[in-house]
Amino acid sequence: MTQYQAPKGVSEYFPPRSLAFEWVRETLVAPAKLAGYNLLELPIFEDTELFTRGVGASTDVVSKEMYTFEDRGGRSITLRPEGTVGALRAIIEHNLDRASLPVKIWYAGAFFRAERPQAGRYRQFYSVGIEAVGSDDPALDAEVISIAYEGFKNLGLKKFRLEITSLGDRQSRAAHRIDLLKYISTLDLDESTKERVKLNPLRIFDDKRPQVRLQMQEAPKLLDYLSDESRVHFETVQKYLQALHIEFEINPRMVRGLDYYTGTTFEFVHDLLGAQSGIGGGGRYDGLMEEIGGQPLTGIGFGLGIDRALLAVEAEGLQPSTPTHSDLYLIALGEMAKVQALITAQNVKSEGISVEIAFGEKVLKNAMKRADKNGAPFVVILGDSELSTGSVELKEMKTGTTFSVTLSSLPQALRQALDGR
Ligand code: HAM
Repeated sequence: MTQYQAPKGVSEYFPPRSLAFEWVRETLVAPAKLAGYNLLELPIFEDTELFTRGVGASTDVVSKEMYTFEDRGGRSITLRPEGTVGALRAIIEHNLDRASLPVKIWYAGAFFRAERPQAGRYRQFYSVGIEAVGSDDPALDAEVISIAYEGFKNLGLKKFRLEITSLGDRQSRAAHRIDLLKYISTLDLDESTKERVKLNPLRIFDDKRPQVRLQMQEAPKLLDYLSDESRVHFETVQKYLQALHIEFEINPRMVRGLDYYTGTTFEFVHDLLGAQSGIGGGGRYDGLMEEIGGQPLTGIGFGLGIDRALLAVEAEGLQPSTPTHSDLYLIALGEMAKVQALITAQNVKSEGISVEIAFGEKVLKNAMKRADKNGAPFVVILGDSELSTGSVELKEMKTGTTFSVTLSSLPQALRQALDGR
């Protein structure tokens, strides 16, 4: 028989690790919800042109990494490589930006990039994102950065750094572009690099090849070309971050892999992850709403890598704070007892207590072994005698103590026992 395998380079999570994955995702989303960001559930695929226009043709994401196909109606469709342009498309299409501003939304899910797979780099990966559209207040930049920061902190991570820079406004970039192109024209570069430079000269700062890096050492930096307005904005953001006690380094050479960034731009880097150390990043995008047909509103957001945040959690030896077992393990011996077990489990769950039933066990010894393995702190055995008396022994596994309780009071007794631990 054929042995099927998952496609190359995708990340998959199954128990028990999927519990840690879920905890990472919820922990990263929580600070956004607390700050008034609401869920935007987006399609996994969009018209290809949306990404080509929005993300930018000079990027690796668009030029090499999109999963693009023709659907049955002959339309060019692409699996979303990132969340921002889809989020803005939805905001424009549903007029969310015609209500009070900024529009603040969060999303989480799978994204697709046909990259060369390696540790921490997948072809299907998972991100949590937020976008705040319609305000250029520098306090919003600080809020967005602090939401990401709080998420990583709440995971217990310590070995991460925040790098920030400003890519300035249109005026700043135009002045810098002239000098940068002049500088680049003196360099020894291959043809394909020259082509990329024509589309977006900033991309060359992102080139990892040593011979290019060496030549770029003296290149003019955008930070030195900021207009007064951009400079004041950037300085104000820094002041707010300092007030929040969020440490950061300024990295004037930072180039993000997507073309839409302007102004404040940032990345969170984890020190134990090797080459794929970026656990999150984002920034402002001044012209993007207009680029994809919306009104001229600025916005700012981030994407946090759930896969990489989980790797970072594991690299730092941290444990999820959610238990990997149920509160109660319920063993039913005999056919009659099974019916009662199902009913009892229903009652226990209605109290918000988690319960697992031992299915298919005929012998008590085996059931107890499984109870031990399960790790549930409490066990109840339901057999003929329990059914006839209507009372059960609630056993605390750690101490071996048993309490006699009626079936009808079991949920309350369990609640008390759990709270008292
Ligand atoms: P991004 O930096 O391209 O930003 O992706 C966000 C995060 O997703 C990265 O920091 C990284 O942790 C994770 N990531 C990216 N590619 C992979 C991969 N192949 N495998 C595993 N993890 C990966 C964005 O996508 C922007 N939309 C963020 C944003 C929102 N900017 C403004 N608003």
